[in-house]
Amino acid sequence: MKIFGHRGASGYAPQNTISSVRLALDQGSDGVEIDVQLTKDNEVVVCHDWIIDNVSDGKGKVSDFALVEIKKNDFGSYFLEDFKGEKIPTLSEVLEFFPKDIILNIELKIKGKSRDLVAEKVADLLLFHERIENTIVSSFNHSSLKKIKKLIPEIKIAFLYKRCISTINKDISDFGMDIYSIHINAKCANKEIIKEIHNHNKKVYVWNSNDIETTKKLYDMEADGIMTDFPIDMKNALWKYITNKSKN
Ligand code: G3P
Ligand code: MG
Repeated sequence: MKIFGHRGASGYAPQNTISSVRLALDQGSDGVEIDVQLTKDNEVVVCHDWIIDNVSDGKGKVSDFALVEIKKNDFGSYFLEDFKGEKIPTLSEVLEFFPKDIILNIELKIKGKSRDLVAEKVADLLLFHERIENTIVSSFNHSSLKKIKKLIPEIKIAFLYKRCISTINKDISDFGMDIYSIHINAKCANKEIIKEIHNHNKKVYVWNSNDIETTKKLYDMEADGIMTDFPIDMKNALWKYITNKSKN
């Protein structure tokens, strides 16, 4: 079962920053999940919230800032003084150092009319950085995935679900394009839905598992991966669990 750092290693570093992504890599994550959206001048930045109030020392909507302006805010010290001076990263800055052999899960955050533009901008960056293999583009907004898949047919795309689903049949057939993985809410994970998704030859990644017991249960349910804020803890716990199981 693969372990993905959720917004980096966001339990240990300010979410969606370069420090958080680097830490997730240092902690041995199999993959790293980040959220992206557009600034006022249509630059792709890595940020989960629509407003920066809770993740920086600034205030206001990401979409109201030009890149040069949003970069003036401190995205680190709200979390811990040690991270003072941490800037909001662009997707490009992450792609510059992110290792090619680790999975990068880019979640498209879509608001209003930004749907196609976000997909187009991300597609341009992935092509420019030659970052197609080992990339998964996910979104709660499934239409945006259609757009990116049209632009890069070989890109892996993933449906994100917040609500609990009991079947995937209709969504897959309505979509009409190849979907690589289905990312379900941990609250909704059970053996049946995981099996159902596997029957459609899709991977199942579960968000989020921040505790060891949930992680063990998801392993037993045969989930293909989990997203977690604490990659090193989940990796260690899983390793111990699997090792003990093999002894018994
Ligand atoms: O991609 C899984 C998870 O990140 C989805 O929820 O709100 O944390 O982006 P959120
Ligand atoms: Mg996310």
